[in-house]
Amino acid sequence: STGLITLDDGYANTGSCTSAITFIDGEKGILRYRGIPIEDLAKNSSFIETAELLIFGDLPNADERAEFRYLLSENSWLHRDMRNHFDAFPKNAHPMSILSAMISALQSHDLPEHRFTDEKGFRLAAASLIAKTRTIAAASYKSHIGQPIMFPRYDLSYAENFLHMMFSMPYRDFETTPEVAHALNMFLVLHADHEQNCSTSTVRMVASSGANLYASVSAGVNALWGRLHGGANMAVIEMLQQIHEGKLTPKKYLDLVKDRRSDIKLMGFGHRVYRNFDPRAVILKDAADSMLNAMHITDPLLDIAREVEQLALADDYFASRRLYPNVDFYSGIILRAIGIPLDMFTVMFAIGRTPGWIAHWKEVTDNAAQRIYRPRQIYVGPTERAWLPRSER
Ligand code: SDX
Repeated sequence: STGLITLDDGYANTGSCTSAITFIDGEKGILRYRGIPIEDLAKNSSFIETAELLIFGDLPNADERAEFRYLLSENSWLHRDMRNHFDAFPKNAHPMSILSAMISALQSHDLPEHRFTDEKGFRLAAASLIAKTRTIAAASYKSHIGQPIMFPRYDLSYAENFLHMMFSMPYRDFETTPEVAHALNMFLVLHADHEQNCSTSTVRMVASSGANLYASVSAGVNALWGRLHGGANMAVIEMLQQIHEGKLTPKKYLDLVKDRRSDIKLMGFGHRVYRNFDPRAVILKDAADSMLNAMHITDPLLDIAREVEQLALADDYFASRRLYPNVDFYSGIILRAIGIPLDMFTVMFAIGRTPGWIAHWKEVTDNAAQRIYRPRQIYVGPTERAWLPRSER
């Protein structure tokens, strides 16, 4: 028998840990950052003040907000040597591979001594990572399409600055609309943290060894890349496009999923914790609707998404397995309407999740009683056996 290992043996022995950052009730569809409901934050808060809430424990007052805004602005640009890395990546490099590599490289510039020694150093590193993750994403896109890398502007919000760095040119500033800036801000707020998901658990695992913030966040980016996790937002659009291109009707696609002879999943559906609905999906579905109406955009993929959802929710195969739309099912519709290229959708998720990863790194690192995460296993390999010389193998 492997024996039960209790929680106080430390995190990975049981796959759970204690945390004060995000609360989820999967049965009731409740999600709160530091006790504040996600619905209130998505409606009222900027992404940056939500980041401060997650990292420092409270929504900032005016002075705290001004100080963090200054740190973000002063640390939004990339060192020239960092920009040189973009020329070294092959043209088909995936934006997530560039992002994780560049965050690791950033550590050498931001933390020459490879770690910070006090709260002031942490605030600077947190601001730099949040600001530069966005700058790296935009610069990677500009390098990929052969356009000049744009510098951030002081007068724009975090979301507006990202759109500026993505779509402005030296001779022409990109003019965003309030609807687009609001939709992107809300997208980022909704992705900012989500308890002990795969990528955040990875960040906590790496942090528990004493690794620095950048090394831990870079590991989180790689864990998020998988199509069952953050990669799902791209896979949802690919699924809807497949249906839209007339290859399959929504009903035929669902039949293929239910048939199970292939590993086809209904991407954007299901969740390990939410068993009735994902509150973020509810918000994103409404936001996609109102944003496309405000922008007078009709996206056939939104109509297909609605039909797929309606058919799936009425189908016992999905209902009996308690499968509902998750955060990734409608988020891609919003990113498409904003003009974000498909291969950057998971990068957008990473930009949103960076404050959550930083908050969890700090929670692990600040806990003096924290032990290194050391998962155990159930061994199913061969019992003891003799070594044989090659002539007898
Ligand atoms: C995110 O953890 C987080 O919080 C993650 C996240 C965050 O904010 O960090 O919320 C972000 O990653 C959202 C999930 C994005 N991934 C997808 O949309 C990919 C599609 N979904 C599935 O792969 C799946 O639902 C998971 C990965 C999300 C959850 O996997 P689980 O909990 O391991 O579920 P399971 O595989 O145990 O499924 C239970 C049953 C199985 O059927 P049976 O074998 O019992 O007959 O449901 C079936 C599964 O086959 N099932 C699906 C399905 N998801 C589960 N069948 C078809 N399509 C699906 N999407």
